[in-house]
Amino acid sequence: MKEKFSAELAKKDPEFELSLRPSKFRDFIGQVKVKERLELFVEAARGRKDVLEHVLLAGPPGLGKTTLAYILADAMGVNIRVTSGPIIDKPGDLAGILTSIEPGDIVFIDEIHRIQKSVEEYLYSAMEDFVLDIMIDQGPNARSVRLNLPKFTLVGATTRSGLLSAPLRSRFGMNVRLNYYPAGELQEVILRSARILNVDIDDEGAREIAGRSRGTPRIANNLLRRVRDYAQVKADNRIVRSIADQALEMLEIDKHGLDEMDKRILLAVVQKFGGGPVGVNSLAVSVGEEPDTIEEVYEPYLIQEGYLKRTPQGRVATELCFQCLGLKPRDRQGSLL
Ligand SMILES: Nc1ncnc2c1ncn2[C@@H]1O[C@H](COP(=O)(O)OP(=O)(O)OP(=O)(O)O)[C@@H](O)[C@H]1O
Ligand SMILES: [Mg+2]
Repeated sequence: MKEKFSAELAKKDPEFELSLRPSKFRDFIGQVKVKERLELFVEAARGRKDVLEHVLLAGPPGLGKTTLAYILADAMGVNIRVTSGPIIDKPGDLAGILTSIEPGDIVFIDEIHRIQKSVEEYLYSAMEDFVLDIMIDQGPNARSVRLNLPKFTLVGATTRSGLLSAPLRSRFGMNVRLNYYPAGELQEVILRSARILNVDIDDEGAREIAGRSRGTPRIANNLLRRVRDYAQVKADNRIVRSIADQALEMLEIDKHGLDEMDKRILLAVVQKFGGGPVGVNSLAVSVGEEPDTIEEVYEPYLIQEGYLKRTPQGRVATELCFQCLGLKPRDRQGSLL
C-alpha cells in the first residue's frame, strides 16, 4: 500500500507538470552551476550567431532535464522537436526527424541511453558533420545516399548516463549533470508552484513539504498538490507547518524524504551486511535492483544526505543512517558508555 503510494508520488503527470514548468532560466530554481554554464553556452552561441553545440543532460528522474531542454530552445529562440530513444526504432525515423527541422532547431531525445544501436551509429555523422548516409534498396541495387541536414542541436536526456556508449557521449559539446536539490531550493520550488496554483501556503509549510520531497522538484510539486487537498478539506485552504505535517503523516510520507527503495537499501547495508562495507553488486542482489540504478538513481541521494559513504572497500552506513532506522551504530553496541 505504502510502497504503491510513494511510487505514485514520483509519477509524471504531463498536464500538471506543464503548468508548473519554468520556461526561462531566471525561473529555473537552483542548480546554479549548471544554469551558469548553460546560459554562458547559449550567450556564446548567440554572440557567434551559431547553432548551440550538442548538450547532454544527465541525472535522476524529476530534476529538470526536460524543463532545461525547453528553456534552452526558448533562450536560443529556436523550435524544439521532442522524441525519445525507444521511439526511434529505425534509421528512417531519425532521417524523418532530422530532415524536417529548420536550421538551429533543437532535437530533444529523451532517454537517449535507450536508443537502438543501429540508429545510434547514424547519429554519429548527423551530430558531427550534419549528414546522414542512408542505404536504399537491397541486394545488388543497394546503395548509400547522403542526406545533408540543417545544422541542429541535439539535446539528449538520460537518467542512466553510465549506459551511454563512449562514442555517443564524446559527441556532446557539453555534458551536464543535475544533482538532487537541497531543501531550501525545493522550498522555493514549492512557493513558486503555490503561487501559480493559487495555493495559500507559508514559508514553514513549504519547508515541511520540501524536507520530505527526496531532493526532487517533481515529488515536491506532487506533494504540494496532496497537501493542498488536505488543507482544503481540513484547514480552510491554508497550508501551515502543522497542516503540512499532518497531511504528510496521513499519507505516510517519510520524515526524511526517503522512499521505499532507499529504506530497503539502508536496511540491507545495516542488517545484511553489518553496516558495510558492501560492494554495489551484492547490495543490488539483496534489494532486487540493477547495480547501475542503485549507483545512478538511489545512491547519490543517500550519499548527499549523509546516510551512506562510499569507500574504496564499498558502501558504509553512517551514524545518521543507523539513527534514521532507529538502530544503534555498530561500534557503540556492547560498549559500556
Ligand atoms: N529547477 C526547477 N525549478 C522549478 N521547477 C522545476 C525545476 N526542475 C524541475 N522542475 C519541475 O519538476 C517537474 C519535473 O521536471 P522535468 O520533467 O524537467 O524532469 P526530468 O528530469 O525531465 O524527469 P524525467 O527523467 O522523469 O523525464 C516539472 O514540473 C518541472 O517544472
Ligand atoms: Mg523528462
